[in-house]
Amino acid sequence: MSAPRIEVLASAREVAGRAADRISAFLASPAPVLGLATGRTPLAVYTALRDRVATGQLSLAHAICFNLDEYSGLPGGHPASFESYMRRELFGPIGLPDDRWHLPDGDGGPAEARSFEAAIVAAGGIGLQLLGIGRNGHIGFNEPGAAHDSRTRQVRLTEQTRQTNAQDFPANTVVPEYAVTMGIGTILEAREILLMATGTAKAEALAAALQGPVSEAVPASALQRHSRVTVLCDFAAAQLLSCQVASCDPKTALLGLVPSVE
Ligand code: PGA
Repeated sequence: MSAPRIEVLASAREVAGRAADRISAFLASPAPVLGLATGRTPLAVYTALRDRVATGQLSLAHAICFNLDEYSGLPGGHPASFESYMRRELFGPIGLPDDRWHLPDGDGGPAEARSFEAAIVAAGGIGLQLLGIGRNGHIGFNEPGAAHDSRTRQVRLTEQTRQTNAQDFPANTVVPEYAVTMGIGTILEAREILLMATGTAKAEALAAALQGPVSEAVPASALQRHSRVTVLCDFAAAQLLSCQVASCDPKTALLGLVPSVE
């Protein structure tokens, strides 16, 4: 097991650019299976990917994509659904056909969850998984307490998550209480993981995930069990990490960090 590689960049914009670079390099592999995330953090990554596709520098035509999660109980086409988000931010503008991308069925039961997992396996497994992190340390919608070997299933969202995500919903609508998410066990099967975190609000969760004990109380701490995790964060999200600078690239303001020795 090797510790996650932590890269601290000067701004959220650079975090997104770096993530887009890694995803673009991954997409040059023969049959890329890409795991994608929703939320505010990846928005700038999708903008960069769209721009690269529009200028002919990048193609996702040969890729298969799987998303982490979807709300339960939203009518088809609801603007706050993650399907709508992905159509709007990436799949629509780049013209990726519907049979090349998958989200868990937010209203499906165990059989639909199993077939989502079977589709990942049939595609060859996820090669690169993009992740955000919640203020409570969640990955996907695996909230604190989720088992580290959990699989795709329906989960109940915490009040904190529902309140945070309320800004994505039209005023006076209720954020769903349930969602279907890839499990932590499912996520850990990705061959490589790219975790993005930006802003002060993520600092505590990031430090707990990377440098606290591996615990079900902090779902993202399960990433310490994975051998190929890269963390891309800005200074604000990195502020509670106790690290030493291992390298510094003055051109990109990129700091490579290693955990400090007490
Ligand atoms: P955010 O969400 O990118 O909108 O902060 C991340 C998450 O909740 O996983």
